[in-house]
Amino acid sequence: MSNPNRTTDTNDLGIIYKAVMIDIRPATSGDILLLEDLYRKEIEDHSGRAQKFAKDLVLRYNTVLAIKDGMICGTGSWEPRGGLDDGVVEIIGLGVNEGFKRQSIGTQLIDTMIDDATQFYKNSGYSLRVLILFMERSNEIARKFYKTNRFKEVANIPSLYPNDDASIWTRHL
Ligand SMILES: CC(C)(COP(=O)(O)OP(=O)(O)OC[C@H]1O[C@@H](n2cnc3c(N)ncnc32)[C@H](O)[C@@H]1OP(=O)(O)O)[C@@H](O)C(=O)NCCC(=O)NCCS
Repeated sequence: MSNPNRTTDTNDLGIIYKAVMIDIRPATSGDILLLEDLYRKEIEDHSGRAQKFAKDLVLRYNTVLAIKDGMICGTGSWEPRGGLDDGVVEIIGLGVNEGFKRQSIGTQLIDTMIDDATQFYKNSGYSLRVLILFMERSNEIARKFYKTNRFKEVANIPSLYPNDDASIWTRHL
């Protein structure tokens, strides 16, 4: 059965969005309570860690939110790595809520982070060259997701995480 909320679009990789009507926008301090709620529902019911998560996303990192019907259904965060002349951005975190996965929201969050970071570097007189991210090596879904989004696995760090090795991925623009 067709979903009346669905629309299609194509990004610069030729990936066809099968997205529901989602607004992707920067996080602001007005989102802190919504982000705390999101953490308690999607990650763990712990108010101290929910507050830290929300403040980090809004105040420490550059974060984009995917919003549907006033609710946050995905987040993506990035920050410059090294000097601006290096042109390197680290993707700090990316998550899409259960119930919203496989609807191209993660891909739209990546595309928006690249657009925002590209503009940020341009405004500073530099160019964004490389995206880098660390993930748990056994995260097979993230592996498939990043491969589809044209990232390459370039290195591993044994036991970086308490229960897993780290896998490092990059995408050169
Ligand atoms: C990884 C994650 C962000 C992907 O978000 P998403 O919105 O579901 O991803 P998209 O719908 O944009 O997927 C794009 C492509 O990635 C691949 N992909 C995504 N999820 C997949 C899955 N469960 N199985 C196989 N391939 C998958 C597919 O190629 C997909 O394209 P398709 O749906 O046309 O086949 C989401 O699964 C998530 O939040 N995971 C938990 C947190 C996490 O692991 N974050 C990444 C590490 S930092």
